Amino acid sequence: MRKKVIAGNWKMNMLPNEAIEYIQAFEPMVKDSKAEIILCVPYIDLFYCLMNAQGTNIKIGAQNMHFEETGAYTGEVSAKMLKSIGVEYVIIGHSERRQYFNETDQTVNKKIKVAFENELKPIVCVGETLEQRENGETEKIITSQTRLALDGLTAEQIKNTIIAYEPIWAIGTGKTATSEDANNSIKAIREELKKLYGENVSEEVIIQYGGSVKSSNAKELFESSDIDGGLVGGASLKPEEFSKIVNYDK
Ligand code: PGA
Repeated sequence: MRKKVIAGNWKMNMLPNEAIEYIQAFEPMVKDSKAEIILCVPYIDLFYCLMNAQGTNIKIGAQNMHFEETGAYTGEVSAKMLKSIGVEYVIIGHSERRQYFNETDQTVNKKIKVAFENELKPIVCVGETLEQRENGETEKIITSQTRLALDGLTAEQIKNTIIAYEPIWAIGTGKTATSEDANNSIKAIREELKKLYGENVSEEVIIQYGGSVKSSNAKELFESSDIDGGLVGGASLKPEEFSKIVNYDK
C-alpha cells in the first residue's frame, strides 16, 4: 500500500514571521496524521521553517533549484545549498516555472538528476493546459512530460520520485478536476511508468493530484484508487484549512 503524501506549496507567500506562526499553529493540528506532510516554502523561509519543524512530523521542501552546483548564476540556489541546511524535498517543473521561467522538460530532467545526487527528493509536476485538454491530448502530454522528466534515472530513483499531476486549468482557478478524471489521468501516468520500468516500480511511485484542492474535496480525491495525496497551493496558506486537508480521513 502506498502512503499518502500531502504537500503544501506556499508559492511566493509568507514572510518568515508568518511562516513561524504558521508552523506553531499547524503542528498540533496535524501531529497524529497518517499522511506524510511537506511544506514547500520560499527560499527565505526555509531555515526558519526547518528550525520550527524540527522534531515534528512536518517535512520541509523548496519550490525550485538550479541544476548547477556552484557558479555564476546570479539569483539561483543549488541543490547542494538546499541540502546543506536540511531541506528534504524540492518541487521541480511546476507549471508556473514552465510558463513564466522557461523551464523545459530538459531542464526538469537535469534538475531531478542533480536533486538525487544531493539526496533531495523531487516532487515533479506534470499537467496539460485547457487547450490541450479540449483537443483530447491530456494523456499524450502528461505521459510525454513524465517520460522526459524521468529519462536516464535508475529504477530506485524513480521509486523515490513523487509525481504531481496538476492540470494547469485547475491551478488557482477554483476549478478542480473531478476525482474520476484526476484518477484516470494518474492511472495513465502509472501505466506509462509500468510500460517503461515495470510494475514493481510503477506500483511504488507516489502520484499526487494538484489543482484547487481544498478541505471540501480532499477526501473524495485522496480516496480514489490511484491518487496518493495532493500538492496544495492556495488552500495550504491557512493552517486550519490545510490541517483539514491533511486530516481528510478523520
Ligand atoms: P492551487 O495550486 O491549489 O492553488 O490550485 C496548486 C499548485 O500550484 O501546486
